[in-house]
Amino acid sequence: MDAKPRKESAHDEDRSAATGPTNIIFSVKEEVGALAKALKLFETKGVNLTHIESRPPRKNDRQYEFYVTCQCTNGVINDVVELLKTEMGATVLQLSHGKKTADASLLTNEISSSPWFPRTIRDLDHFAKQILSYGAELDSKHPGFTDETYRVRRKQFAEIAYNYKHGQPIPRVDYTEQEIKTWGTILRHLMDLYPTHACREFNRIFPILQEQCGFQEDKIPQLEDVSQFLQRSTGWRIRPVAGFLTPRDFLAGFAFRVFHATQYIRHWSQPLFTPEPDICHELIGHVPFLADPSFARFSQEVGLASLGAPDDWIEKLVTCYWFTVEFGLCRQDGQLKAYGAGLLSSFGELKYCLSDNPEIREFDPEKTGIQPYTITEYQPIYYVTESFEDAKSKLQKFCDQIPRPFVPKYNPYTLEVEILDNKDKIFNHAAKLKDDLEILSEALSRLCA
Ligand SMILES: [Fe+2]
Repeated sequence: MDAKPRKESAHDEDRSAATGPTNIIFSVKEEVGALAKALKLFETKGVNLTHIESRPPRKNDRQYEFYVTCQCTNGVINDVVELLKTEMGATVLQLSHGKKTADASLLTNEISSSPWFPRTIRDLDHFAKQILSYGAELDSKHPGFTDETYRVRRKQFAEIAYNYKHGQPIPRVDYTEQEIKTWGTILRHLMDLYPTHACREFNRIFPILQEQCGFQEDKIPQLEDVSQFLQRSTGWRIRPVAGFLTPRDFLAGFAFRVFHATQYIRHWSQPLFTPEPDICHELIGHVPFLADPSFARFSQEVGLASLGAPDDWIEKLVTCYWFTVEFGLCRQDGQLKAYGAGLLSSFGELKYCLSDNPEIREFDPEKTGIQPYTITEYQPIYYVTESFEDAKSKLQKFCDQIPRPFVPKYNPYTLEVEILDNKDKIFNHAAKLKDDLEILSEALSRLCA
């Protein structure tokens, strides 16, 4: 036990201790001369910078980010950090000593002309607080806006998401009776429609989720249990999120087989309506498909295509995502069936989408990717695909046009995205493929023997 209470501080270490290189990643509000002002603060304290990188603001994110390496003592660097915060309102995203850490790849894309994108699964931690809307705050039109209890509850969920780091178990939540009742009402209504309206993949996997993950009317499944189930099934996993991410950040998670899922539930007063995704939408609509190997590959393709893509291409990819993953239809045994998460988690739209009212078109990324859509009403147009594999191959061809000087490839062993931008890397992957083909060839010859 300490003799005296000690003020806890991340920087309350030995101020005079000499250190090796110190790495700081910080963000500041977009303004002319932001970098010059920041550098001046380092100069004021006599800190010698040995490395500087910057990243321009992303759309909807008016923050410049800087990654610097310097040589000085802990005490001096703590003073600089304080100055960055007080003089420039900077947010220090990472402070580490020693050699450049893996997280430094936040700002070290080899493809400097492309928009920044995460290179390792841990880089996704960086998205946690970059929420576009809702999160802990509610819009005045939200059904829970005037309900103080609901607002407090939403803050609790937001805190979980803000503080979550890759590799941690997702904190379990004790859902209230009222929340469980809302979940049960939604599930009961939807279950009546699934045999006739949902595609066969959904109807195959949903009973497994009922059995293994507790998809029952009297219990809201825990994200951690569902994430574990997905990891066993297809390698996908869940991260809790407080609200809407930017489309670029949301799709980037897909590249790593990570699905950002909300953990809160819609307001009890309107169980069959929600202005935003909630745990019902995520678990009932999305999770069954993330457990399907073919759909899992399709979704990851969308994510990989988004990495480093220009903004206009992100727009096209998000639109394709909208008309497939969220509101897609497929043709099975000559009949239309729903596979979009927005359909399978909405009692009203699930009935509507297979009625004679909407217009049905064939999924064609060239055309689908530029089709305007509505987020406040049922879709007037739905796109139909023959199979997930068919959608994937069409999307792959479409994405070949994305103007970027590299091809990203996910490494499931290191959980990193590798950049295939030179011959050595490509030959290295070709050698791995050759090994895989030899294994398949051997297996085939044994089968035929
Ligand atoms: Fe969704």
